[in-house]
Amino acid sequence: MDLEDKTINTSTQMKQVEANVVNSTAQPALEIIGGKNLTGEVKISGAKNSALAIMAGTLLCDDDCRLSNMPNLVDINMMGQVLTSLGVKIKKSGSVWEFNPRDLKAVKAPYELVSQLRASFFVIGPILTRLGVAHVPLPGGCSIGSRPVELHVRGLQAMGAHVVIEHGVVNASLQGRNQRLQGAKIFLDYPSVGATETIMMAATLAEGETIIENAAKEPEIVDLADFCNSMGAKIVGAGTDTIIIQGVNRLGTTDHDIIPDRIEAATFLAAGAITHSEIIVTSINPEHLISAIAKFEEIGCKVQKEDEFTLRTLPGQLKGSDIETLPYPGFPTDMQAQFMALLTVSEGNSVVTETVFENRLRHVAELQRMGANIKVKGNCAVIAGVPFLTGAPVMATDLRASAALVLAGLAARGTTIVQGLHHLDRGYQDLEAKFQSLGADIKRLPNYQG
Ligand code: EPZ
Repeated sequence: MDLEDKTINTSTQMKQVEANVVNSTAQPALEIIGGKNLTGEVKISGAKNSALAIMAGTLLCDDDCRLSNMPNLVDINMMGQVLTSLGVKIKKSGSVWEFNPRDLKAVKAPYELVSQLRASFFVIGPILTRLGVAHVPLPGGCSIGSRPVELHVRGLQAMGAHVVIEHGVVNASLQGRNQRLQGAKIFLDYPSVGATETIMMAATLAEGETIIENAAKEPEIVDLADFCNSMGAKIVGAGTDTIIIQGVNRLGTTDHDIIPDRIEAATFLAAGAITHSEIIVTSINPEHLISAIAKFEEIGCKVQKEDEFTLRTLPGQLKGSDIETLPYPGFPTDMQAQFMALLTVSEGNSVVTETVFENRLRHVAELQRMGANIKVKGNCAVIAGVPFLTGAPVMATDLRASAALVLAGLAARGTTIVQGLHHLDRGYQDLEAKFQSLGADIKRLPNYQG
């Protein structure tokens, strides 16, 4: 081949490499033209974090069970794949899912799924208490923290499980003559949501009484307890820091409605506040939003209760305030990033302290790209409010950070491009469509090349 041919081939190859690089970086993104006022009503979907735990809870049932108001999210569909891999038959019809776990045989959850969805670790309690053995891969960390599970493991050990963690898998089994977990008194060092859910589910079919002290009190814990009790479990005290479970022999069929997603609801309330718009948020339980509503009102956005399922934002001049994330009923860590977006354009100084996760301030750098004035020291962010943000291309780093960047884009002057939508799609159903229905100028670019 003479030199010329080689040159042509090389330039062709270069074009191909460039095309591959460009294509490989072409990702979906949201394009938001900020500054629009919002108006209208938005219906909130079922709660992701309740649905995920309750899906694990369907493994406790030895009959069909049905869940309604299920959100259509990447995480939910992935949890469905985990259950299917364990032998559960699932039928979906819109937001109604039917589960038939009668053929639950497999005791090993697939690593390739558990490593992508932490919540799938919740299957360990139900599998162990129903089948006496469970092999579930350690979920591993994620961008917001190391996410250990030792509180889950210690709870199961207190109930008589023999647990060996090797090669990244938690192997739990019942030893010798004990073919059932035994009720125990368990004190949680930290009111962990997941650990409370794992122990509560395992205890439903254990022998005797289990007491969980310093339990998490989130509404999702109450919803899970309601679901288990509707199958015949005997759980009292969910929603308080002491939960008592009397073990029973079996759990039967049920039909359960997932509670509304309080974090999605608060995210939309924040959208009303940051765009100085009056919007209505429906199909929610305002009782689950008390700490968030108190903070909205403190910074100048009144939240009016229209009826038992509906709130309306009455926005005003926003002024800075301090937030510290805490276990429920404290200010929710899952609203910290979204609220920080609000504080960047609130008058005066604010301090945001993240006490729940060790690395949940990664949205700060992206908000700074939009002109926010934020300084981070340890788990604290000090924010000096600025008159306005400016649109910019930004990258979501985790689920709630992506929501925060959308909020910032709605308020910013100019165009914001939010990339990293795989984070957003895990936890928000039809987000851009919901914002479009409120009048936002937001659209999904299927192949954005940054
Ligand atoms: C649940 O995670 C939620 N996820 C999270 O929502 C939420 O942020 C969190 O609760 C707190 O409210 C689901 O329900 C699927 P934790 P979970 O156990 O159960 C430490 C979202 O954005 N800890 O209460 O994992 C842990 O490291 C997600 O929707 C231990 O040290 O939360 C963290 O610092 C993000 N050892 C703190 O407790 C353990 O064994 C809170 O974790 C367990 C937890």
